[in-house]
Amino acid sequence: MTENLTIVDHPLIQHKLTILRNKDTPTAHFRQVIREVAILLGCEATKDLPLGNIEIETPLEAIKSPYLEGKKLCFVSILRAGNGLLDGLLDLIPSARVGHVGMYRDHETLEAHRYYFKTPDDLGGRQVIMVDPMLATGNTAIAAATELKNAGASALKFMCLVAAPEGVRAFNAAHPDVPIITAALDRELNDRGYILPGLGDAGDRIYGTKG
Ligand code: URA
Repeated sequence: MTENLTIVDHPLIQHKLTILRNKDTPTAHFRQVIREVAILLGCEATKDLPLGNIEIETPLEAIKSPYLEGKKLCFVSILRAGNGLLDGLLDLIPSARVGHVGMYRDHETLEAHRYYFKTPDDLGGRQVIMVDPMLATGNTAIAAATELKNAGASALKFMCLVAAPEGVRAFNAAHPDVPIITAALDRELNDRGYILPGLGDAGDRIYGTKG
């Protein structure tokens, strides 16, 4: 099966990812850098937004100039770590609508369970970009994408920071129509479902809730 996966290999992204991977990066810096990477990944995730032309006047002459053509967007954060990427996407496109999906991972079975779901009513008319920094087993992202499709989403993408091969395989198998955009494809999962080499628990790193 051909993977529906884009690894955004840009020097700025790879540099910033190294900062995020470093266990000594303090919380405030981590939060700032993940926001910056989200902006860079967001350019890739939105690169097929349709452009029309509008007439404007520069200080020198009238021209027809490219302008985003009314394609509505919705960013959906998978709580809580998704909020780290969401902030950067909203810096990039402040007018986008926002949804939140709360999924928790059962630490025994690693299965995802929904505890919160709030999105705009008109998901079907929007390009929906779902965000979560870590694509590990894929269980959470698969379940969140299913919930979004059940709520009407038809144009869906998934943007993450680091993906594991196991998660990419599982997600592509469950949602072959949903492109994955990531900064890195790492080696493997460990027996606790963490990505190696990874960057640890993204939520804890963003919010400083451990150590
Ligand atoms: N979630 C994380 O935050 N980190 C991992 O490595 C895997 C899942």
